[in-house]
Parts: sequence; structure tokens; C-alpha cells
Amino acid sequence: MADFKDVWKNRVAGAVNKLLREAGSAETVDPSAVTAESPPRPEQGDLGFPMFAYAKQLRKAPPLIAAAVAADLSPHGEGSAGASDGEAFALGPYVNIRLDRGRTASGLLAGLLDETVPIGRPGTLAGSRVMVEFSSPNTNKPLHLGHLRNDALGESVSRILKAAGAELRKVCIINDRGVHICKSMLAYKEGGGGRTPESEGVKSDHFVGGFYVAFHKMAGDDSSAEERAQELLRRWEAGDSETVELWKMMNTWTVDGMKETYRRTGVSFDQYYFESQTYLKGKEEILAGLDKGIFYRAEDGAVMVDLEAEKLDKKVLLRSDGTSIYITQDIGLAIYRNRDWAFDRLVYVVGSEQQYHFQVLFAILKKLGFPWASNLYHLSYGMVNLPDGKMKSREGTVVDADDLIDSLRDLALAEIRDKDREEAVGNSDEVAEKIALGALHYYLLSVAPARDMLFNPQESLSFNGNTGPYLQYMGARISSMLKKAGDRDPAVDAGLLSGDAEWELVKLLGAYTEAVASAAEHMDPSIIAAYLYELAKAFSRFYHDCPILNAGNAALSSARLALSRAVLRVLRDAFELICIPFLEAM
Ligand code: ARG
Repeated sequence: MADFKDVWKNRVAGAVNKLLREAGSAETVDPSAVTAESPPRPEQGDLGFPMFAYAKQLRKAPPLIAAAVAADLSPHGEGSAGASDGEAFALGPYVNIRLDRGRTASGLLAGLLDETVPIGRPGTLAGSRVMVEFSSPNTNKPLHLGHLRNDALGESVSRILKAAGAELRKVCIINDRGVHICKSMLAYKEGGGGRTPESEGVKSDHFVGGFYVAFHKMAGDDSSAEERAQELLRRWEAGDSETVELWKMMNTWTVDGMKETYRRTGVSFDQYYFESQTYLKGKEEILAGLDKGIFYRAEDGAVMVDLEAEKLDKKVLLRSDGTSIYITQDIGLAIYRNRDWAFDRLVYVVGSEQQYHFQVLFAILKKLGFPWASNLYHLSYGMVNLPDGKMKSREGTVVDADDLIDSLRDLALAEIRDKDREEAVGNSDEVAEKIALGALHYYLLSVAPARDMLFNPQESLSFNGNTGPYLQYMGARISSMLKKAGDRDPAVDAGLLSGDAEWELVKLLGAYTEAVASAAEHMDPSIIAAYLYELAKAFSRFYHDCPILNAGNAALSSARLALSRAVLRVLRDAFELICIPFLEAM
């Protein structure tokens, strides 16, 4: 469905191109390059097209261009092709359009209510192959609040890019190798006493996390603990079978536990990579680069890269003892990924504290001559914390992901019980869980990725205000109204929808595809979140101003129901993009 803004962009481009031809110019304007604005005041119409950009090509003042374009687009003008769905007029340097409300509403609803045609699919990324890496945990402890922001962003950005037409592959790197996991292993080896997650009845990743905490307690009293962990790493690298067995067992516990959390939050991956399987490749590439003179050996024997020309300093790639570091594995990983699935773009969703790491990584891959190295992008996001004094986690410092969702769910459940809504909502536990996820994901995604933020659990759950549950509630309210209405007159005359509140909604519905395109372009789900909030507010006004079931006239009632159905469809589609579960009742 071409939305009305696109229709008019096409027409404006057509009229400008005609002027260009008449002026003997060989240049043309592409409709997608035409900017459309919303005029500040209602009496100025619904769309405004600035003409400044064409002044140079046409050697004409913008107001003169605006007058010519408006004349061409008026109902009797040639460019209009009989367009009676809106009226064009010049307003200074702008061509403004006052849309015919009824016709616009009819066209739009016809598209939105045709369930066989997907909505919100701008096609701006059609033909591109995008790989998105996100989550990417270490295996020494369970997921925390930072991962929840990462997971929500990665999953949502992936869905948005896909909606914009990209072919998409979601990947995760599990950093399962290194001294961090050896610390948990050491504590288990020395104090685990053969216990298992099953024997203790503890979620398996939390079980491992407990030993990471135990290691730090132990290291506080025993200065040789760090050294013993390093020793364990050396044994692991040497392939010592007992160490490798322990490592396998504990990593399986962690990864299995994390996958449970992913399932719970609606996150999934097309492929998992494991550092233990990629770091040797990184080493190999670095040594090959050393041979070619791309890298150099420092006096102490470490392999280094000089990125001073890129203003990035000198950087160690392999330690003097030959062991690899964090960046080593990333070099092998990127190469494997491109080999597995040739991408046009690889997006790394990783915290802003790793900005330097990714600048260096990308520069190194370019130096190594990989043609795809210029297609790598770090989608950096800010820190997330709880307001002081909220919910202490087991480990004291970071907020555990599962615990946080549990407590959100418990709060939602208590609210359902307080309000005596248990019967109305059906399965209270399930609904409470969905409210918790809606609250969490909306709160995390409504902030632009780059910004640091506080996650306030109580605020996220509020039913009024800019929250997930408010939107879920709006969806449930519309659903129950539509259910109550049953099947009314299917022949809807959307032309009846010409009141101000209805028109606001129609215009917002018409802007959905554009919101998806913009969210995809900027890889920013907060654009969808903001769109949804506007839509919900506009629906509230409409609901307040325009009686629906009691419109006093069956045709008007049907038209308003159709509008509500269209809102619900957009709402549900957008929910999916930002990982908010939809609820029929709440
Ligand atoms: N596991 C790493 C950490 O917790 C993040 C990995 C990010 N991705 C990457 N390709 N380096 O810090």
C-alpha cells in the first residue's frame, strides 16, 4: 500500500521534473528524495513540501516554483491526473496539500484492513543482507540488566531491519574461553563438592554464577587464587582432559540457563558462535599478518599493530607468551561469519564502553585487506542502572536478569489480584509475565540506544503514562470492543471519518510505514516506541470524542469500528517490532 505521503511525493516530483524539462535541464528529482513536512497549523493543510532545494536547478525563486507546482497539481492541472483526493496550494516557498479526509481515510483503511497484505513494510532495505550480533555473554555468570537492554535492542533492531526488507541473520558470540570462566571453574573445583544445578535445584547459569562470586570471596583472602585461575587457563589451552571436561560441564550449565532466559524474553538466534572455536583462527590471521609486515613484534615478543595513522594508538594483538586476548578472537570471528554468510552489513550491538575496541577491530580487518571490513558497524548503547536502593541482586553489584523479570512479574500479578481481575484476564500468571515483558522491553527501547538510562521497575509497570502496559491495555481495550461489536456491516464507508480526532488517527496510521523506515535507517527502536505512544494517545482522544458502538447511526458506527480495527492491526504489528507481547484482555 502506498501511503498518501508517498503518493504526493510522487506527484510533487512529477511536477518539479516537468518544470526541469521545460527549463531544458537534463536533471531529474527522485520522489524518494522529496521531503514532506507537517505544517505547523491546521489551516495550512496536512502536508508541506519545501521548494528551496530546486531553486538552483530551476534558477527560480522558491515561491515562484511553489506557485507553478501548486498550479500543476490543482484538480485541473496536468500533474494531478484527476487527483481529487487533496488540494494543492502555494504558501510562500512551500507547496501545501490539504487532503480530502474521507478519500484519504478510505484509501488507507482499505489497505490496512486487507489481511492478505502485510503492513509497515517500507522495502527500503530490500536486497540487502544484514547480520546482527547481540547479547554475546561470557559464560562465568548469568545475564544481567545490561544484557536485557542489549537483547531487547538486538532483537528489536533485527525485526525492524527485516520489516524494512533486509534479509536478516541474528548471531550471538558466546565468550566461553578465558580466565573469567576459569575463575568459576576453580571455585567449583575447590569447593563445589560434586554438587550440580539439579542436586541444588538452582537454575544452571545461576549455579555457575554462584561460583564466580565464591571465587572473588576466595581471592579476597588468598592472593594465589588469581594465579591458580591462570594456571587453569594454561591447562585448558594445553588441552588437559580433566580441565576440558570441567570446562565443558560448566559452560553447558551456563549456556543452557541463558537459553532459558532467551526463550522467556522472546529472543532467538540463527547461529551461535563460540569463542573457543574462533580464537585460534584469530591467532592464525594475526601471525599471517605479522609475516606480511602488517603487524610487528614488540621487544617483549608481543605481536602489535600500529594504528597511529588512524589515531588509534598501538595495540597488542597477541601477548608475549603467545596467548590471545579479547580482540584476537574477534578477528577470527568476523572472518568466519563472512565466510558462513556473506553479509552486506554486520551490526555489533555492544555497550558504549567498547567503542575503542570496535574502532580498532574494524581498522585491523581493513589493514588485513578484507573487502567487507568497511561494512562493519558498532551499534553502541549506553549503560542501564536501577535507581539507588532498588532490588539488590544476589551478587550485590549487577542486577540479575531473571530476578528482575521475576520481580516485575510478581508486581504485575499483585496488581491483577488487587484489582480483582483474575477472572477477567484468564490465566493470571501468563498475563502477568507478558505485562512484565511489555513493561521491560518498552521501557528499555523507548530510550534512544546511545543514551545512558535508569530502569525504574515501578514506573515501567504503570498503567497510565508512556509505558508498555499502557499500550497493552489500549490493545486489550480495542480487542474487547471489537469482540463486543461482532461482525457489523462489512461494507464500510470510511468517507464518514472526517472529524478532527478521526483525522488525527488516520494521518498517524498513514505514517506507520515511514516510522518503520526511519527506525530501520537509524537502527533505533525508540522511533517505533514514540510512534506507538502517539497512536495510543490519538486513539484515546478518538475514543473519548467519538462514540463508537453508540454512534447513533449504523454506518458511522461501522466506519469507526473499521478505524479501530486498523489501529489494532498497526498496534499489533508495531508491538511485534519492539518485542511487546499483545494481550487480548488485561
Ligand atoms: N562477551 C563480551 C562482553 O561481555 C561482549 C562481546 C561483544 N561482541 C564481540 N564480537 N566482541 O564484554
